[in-house]
Amino acid sequence: MTNLFNDLLKDSESIFKNPVALDYDYHPKLVPYRENEQHYMANCIKPLLQNRNGKNLFIFGKPGIGKTIATRHVLKDLEENSDEVQQIYINCWKKDTPYKIVLEICDQIGYKWIQQKKTDELFQKVKEILNKTSAVLVLDEADKLEDVSIIYSIAEDIYKKSIFFITNDKEWINNLDQRLRSRLIPENLEFKPYNMEETKGILKQRVTYAFHSNVFDEKAFNLIAEKTYHLNDIRTGLFLLKEAALIAENKSLKKVSLEHSQEAIEKLTNFTPKDEKNLQDDEKEILELIKKNSGKSIKELYGIYSANKELAYRTFQKKIKQLETAKQITLKDHKEGWGYYKTVEFGYKKTLNDF
Ligand SMILES: Nc1ncnc2c1ncn2[C@@H]1O[C@H](COP(=O)(O)OP(=O)(O)OP(=O)(O)O)[C@@H](O)[C@H]1O
Ligand SMILES: [Mg+2]
Repeated sequence: MTNLFNDLLKDSESIFKNPVALDYDYHPKLVPYRENEQHYMANCIKPLLQNRNGKNLFIFGKPGIGKTIATRHVLKDLEENSDEVQQIYINCWKKDTPYKIVLEICDQIGYKWIQQKKTDELFQKVKEILNKTSAVLVLDEADKLEDVSIIYSIAEDIYKKSIFFITNDKEWINNLDQRLRSRLIPENLEFKPYNMEETKGILKQRVTYAFHSNVFDEKAFNLIAEKTYHLNDIRTGLFLLKEAALIAENKSLKKVSLEHSQEAIEKLTNFTPKDEKNLQDDEKEILELIKKNSGKSIKELYGIYSANKELAYRTFQKKIKQLETAKQITLKDHKEGWGYYKTVEFGYKKTLNDF
């Protein structure tokens, strides 16, 4: 048998200098083109540094355009410049119940006596600790919260704070209970997609971090930058850079050329750029099920799933919807008699025209 690994590039010859720089959660040192947004956020926080109450902020915009990274950058800057303000960042897709959120806050503020305490008791502790100083609380992917009661508690019981909500869903805040909205009165900050030049700038920066010099052929890079610009999603761009380089590397080449970028783009139709790590375990299970039963209706899928697991149909439907938001699946409407039913396909096949 021939040696399968013979003709592969040896490690030291990899075209990647620092592949981590293409990970979605990598934090680049600079977040260019979002300076105005970062200033806006900083201004909402500033009163906290003067011992006054901060402002709340509702941040929205399409996926993959820097909302999370810009916000985290502001938090990091704050951390480096002040000890007075606590910073808490929560991804509500991962932590979607009051209990999980409170636990996460405890973890981030270093409160360790969490055993056998209920949500309310833990929140009392959180309240005591945070009210000694002031806090910025970021609720990212806020629309994924199962239960918004925790927002009430924070709004009511933490005295000096800024709460930032981040979501793709512009309407989310308007759909909150009026009593809650009147407690929050947030300012709005919309993130607009990057233009062509900005998209190129961001991807170029990552190429410099991730690859040895001159690995990316200019045409190969430009094709990916254009595709990324048209899709308005930097995350997809990072995926394409990595894919194209892997394709070249698999062919034992040391340069990425146009055809590798083209091949990477062809893979996109089934690809799901939204951070897969955000998926919860049950969502991953449901996704696996869909993968094996692509094309079945939601009811049929529920039939299979609920044979082994207890889950309400409504919750199941909600999970399906979340998988669609996460661009993991495609839902299709079919007419039946007077009504409609939906089938579920694995992979995200919507094109820009479908929106
Ligand atoms: N201005 C920028 N400079 C450097 N990297 C950026 C910039 N904007 C976005 N990115 C990168 O693009 C990817 C997506 O950005 P981010 O996660 O902030 O998107 P998002 O707007 O929060 O998307 P979603 O709504 O899907 O959560 C990240 O890997 C991020 O590092
Ligand atoms: Mg985000």
